[in-house]
Amino acid sequence: MSTIRRILDPDPVASLVDYTNDRGGDALAAAARVDRGAVIDTVTAAGLRGRGGAGFPTGRKWATIARSLQGASIPVVVNAAEGEPGTFKDRTLLRRNPYRVLEGACIAARSVGADTIIVAIKASFTHEIDRLTEAIDEITAAGWTDGLTVSVVAGPGEYLFGEETAMLEVIDGRPPFPRVVAPYRRGVATDPDRPRHDGTVALVDNVETLANVPGIVLDGAEWFRSVGTVDSPGTIVCTVTGSTERAGVGEYEMGTPIGQVISELGGGLQAGAHVAAVLGGVSSPPLDGTALETPISYEAMALAGSGLGSASFIVIDDTTSIRSVAAGVARFLSVESCGQCVPCKRDALAIAEAMRTNGDRTAIDDALSTVTRGARCALAGQTERVVGALVRLADSLGEPDDPVEPYPILPMVDLIEGQAVLDTSHLDKRADWTRVGEEPDSDEWPVERLANQPTEATAVHVAEVDLRRAEPAELPDIDVFAPVRELHATLERQVARVRTAPSDRVHAELAELREQIERHRRVSERLLYPLLERLEPEIGDDVSWYPEHREAHAARLAERLDLGTMPVTTHLLDELCADIHVSIIELDQRVLPLLAAHVAGDTGEERLIAGDIVDEITDR
Ligand SMILES: Cc1cc2nc3c(=O)[nH]c(=O)nc-3n(C[C@H](O)[C@H](O)[C@H](O)COP(=O)(O)O)c2cc1C
Ligand code: SF4
Repeated sequence: MSTIRRILDPDPVASLVDYTNDRGGDALAAAARVDRGAVIDTVTAAGLRGRGGAGFPTGRKWATIARSLQGASIPVVVNAAEGEPGTFKDRTLLRRNPYRVLEGACIAARSVGADTIIVAIKASFTHEIDRLTEAIDEITAAGWTDGLTVSVVAGPGEYLFGEETAMLEVIDGRPPFPRVVAPYRRGVATDPDRPRHDGTVALVDNVETLANVPGIVLDGAEWFRSVGTVDSPGTIVCTVTGSTERAGVGEYEMGTPIGQVISELGGGLQAGAHVAAVLGGVSSPPLDGTALETPISYEAMALAGSGLGSASFIVIDDTTSIRSVAAGVARFLSVESCGQCVPCKRDALAIAEAMRTNGDRTAIDDALSTVTRGARCALAGQTERVVGALVRLADSLGEPDDPVEPYPILPMVDLIEGQAVLDTSHLDKRADWTRVGEEPDSDEWPVERLANQPTEATAVHVAEVDLRRAEPAELPDIDVFAPVRELHATLERQVARVRTAPSDRVHAELAELREQIERHRRVSERLLYPLLERLEPEIGDDVSWYPEHREAHAARLAERLDLGTMPVTTHLLDELCADIHVSIIELDQRVLPLLAAHVAGDTGEERLIAGDIVDEITDR
């Protein structure tokens, strides 16, 4: 067995004393002796990337949060939701050693200047909640949390609870519906005396990410980088389930071939069976069975057309219909979609239904091509990429387009003696998040059934802005902003083209996207934002800040991807598309209505503005 021991203790650490006897707490003490910025610099130099799935650089995230803080009180949120099918690594880490995760969270809190730690975990994870509660009492008594409030928030079982903005919604007492606004832009209402949406930020980090922090602080960035690859330093805790002899969780150096991880943790397949595909939960497209030499690193998995995600490897053998696996992923994601973005829920349900009942390929392909339109979170992109790739793999294996029973793609409840216990009750979960036998089917989507307040309005709230002024105004007689909305629609279509382009077309589509972004920026930066500042001097800056930054980020990313200075990975494409979607939503829902309220008429001035917009778009 070539597992490595850095963060996954071989046996449960029974008490804080046992942990401190093994250098536990030393990193926190070391962090207290240096400047906060120095700790962030070390984490940045180590190249630690978030283990919650997206692989975002942790040091960069901490630095952004520390910069945006400006004296406000903010929480560090430990993401312990672990809802990815086929993943059990965060719970294993918490069962074995909650102290290491909490030490990482305390260091994070100190480094970014947070005053609160909230561990957000599913209420059903009772074993881990007990372990955490005891550990929090122990570290509090030991003085680790001086100056900090630490709490555990038990949340719902929904997959979206793990999505960071939905998690903040839950902490604020609302259903797990993702926000448009990112955690570094809006956090949670930790102080009851302050207005609920006061513009404070939050730092959300995954359990495993935080478990890596004490080692980095104590032994340094070079030590951390002494295993793994340049772009994926360190180790990763993997879960293997599916058609293997057993299920298992183990810590491996980044760069280990995936086939080795599968055979060591999974103990091989049944006699005569071969690996047909390895599914990265429901987040990454599958690797086919011929790619088992692929190293487990962010860059190698992306190059192979998949993704590392949360290192959940569901092994599918060659006796299983790949189309049924596609149907299983579609079923899971269609149920878990919240329905705030119509195409995400509607199209995923259509795909799942077609796969199960008639295999209608035109309907499936059509829905796959529209499912991400206007999506505010990454779930819709998962449907497009993972289901789409599985359908193509099934085609390449010569599987017919027949209807299939969905393969059970389900969250894990436990891992007992090498056997994965799956949440089979999920098969009774309906699209409205009710369960057969418990409640009647409401025939609504979760967003309609559960939102008894306008989450849309709160979700787009940015800083201290009077929302009443942002309500959609009547459109003027001549719709001054119609060309801008058309430009938005064109951008959305181009985003879809980039995401669905075959690899030999991606760069051409990216080049076109870059041009469109530039055209759009000319309009917003030369006309819309200056106009907003003039007409709404008190709030103009605040309202334009977010879309402006997201669009600038999208422009930089598109340029790097197009010029080849960054590899075209699914995660980077997701990031690019999310930036564009969010800036469009902010513009459509906040900036344009505010402007429209001032120019609602058919005067000469409005005509001039409309003409200017058209000129900028056409670059005359
Ligand atoms: C649909 C969805 C579900 C997610 N579920 C989880 C989860 O269960 N646990 C987790 O740590 N991150 C999850 N994430 C990722 C989080 O949104 C976020 O990226 C992560 O908490 C950031 O922490 P990190 O930088 O340490 O990875 C999910 C994302 C999406 C889009
Ligand atoms: S993309 Fe899907 S899951 Fe995400 S917010 Fe929109 S409807 Fe909900």
